Amino acid sequence: MNDKLKQIKELVELELNASVKVEDIENIKVKYLGKKGEITTILKTLGQMAPEDRKEAGSLINNLRQEVESIIEYKLKILKDSEIDKKITSEKIDISIDKSNEKIGNKHPLTVVLDDIKEIFIGMGYSIAEGPEVEYSKLNFDALNTPKDHPARDLQDTFYITEDIILRTQTSPVQARTMLIQEPPIKIIVPGRVYRSDNVDATHSPMFHQVEGLVVDKNITMSDLKGTLETFAKTYFGENTKIRLRPHHFPFTEPSAEVDVSCFVCAGIGCKVCKGEGWIEILGAGMVHPNVLAAAGIDSKIYSGFAFGMGLERIAMTKFDINDMRYLYENDVRFLKQF
Ligand code: PHE
Repeated sequence: MNDKLKQIKELVELELNASVKVEDIENIKVKYLGKKGEITTILKTLGQMAPEDRKEAGSLINNLRQEVESIIEYKLKILKDSEIDKKITSEKIDISIDKSNEKIGNKHPLTVVLDDIKEIFIGMGYSIAEGPEVEYSKLNFDALNTPKDHPARDLQDTFYITEDIILRTQTSPVQARTMLIQEPPIKIIVPGRVYRSDNVDATHSPMFHQVEGLVVDKNITMSDLKGTLETFAKTYFGENTKIRLRPHHFPFTEPSAEVDVSCFVCAGIGCKVCKGEGWIEILGAGMVHPNVLAAAGIDSKIYSGFAFGMGLERIAMTKFDINDMRYLYENDVRFLKQF
């Protein structure tokens, strides 16, 4: 009996040493310890033994069974551990990878321009206001002294959602919105998208961006407007920049002006950028019309104000010498990465 058991143990060890997969070991376990396994079968023969032999044989077999069980478990654990190790190594993510070539992109030219403009006006004590792009025509037009028969309200110029709701054609309705909820003094700039029913070409787009400015307080005069715009122009385009106000008409300002800056490339002599003019038109402005103040419930005998509005695209195009507006919307990285 003893020899037989020793032989079994040696066999188990041999087979275990030869096995390389968890599956092999499971098979060995079944072969020796399973219901019909060799050790189990020997255990079953105990009943046929003489009672005096049974005790010794029983303990020998049981010892063997325990030994075999523990070496199988041991081998199983080693194998499983090494498989986990292999898995960890093969699935390892190298977080030390060299990312120095990664491109992080840059600001869109319109954002570059807007950020600079914001910084200048915030420096002069302005805050930023915003309003909806889908706007009441009442606020886009009526509150801004723009009567029903004004050409700007034509279908050719304006996108109508309903008769009363439109895509705002200018950032100016935020003037009205602000005056309706805020008492003077008011000092805001309003950046945002605006929409006009234009066809796309090198200088037009049905969607573009404006920055509006509004100041309402006691004793605000045209010289405040001029001084403000001069400060802006000098800070943005350079210390030697001059500004020029040309008479113009906007329904919501009186008097109104179009404002030019002296060309920042040729200093007014005339060049490609200013198209030989020496001047570049950058914005519309004027003193807030008393009707606009009245529509917002502000007494024009006590308060006065000025407003201005500029197109971001136009400023970006002059500043960066971009000759086609469409580049600004095409998201071509070759173009965008130049700024
Ligand atoms: N809203 C005008 C436009 O879109 C610009 C402007 C704003 C003019 C404020 C005067 C005062 O053309």
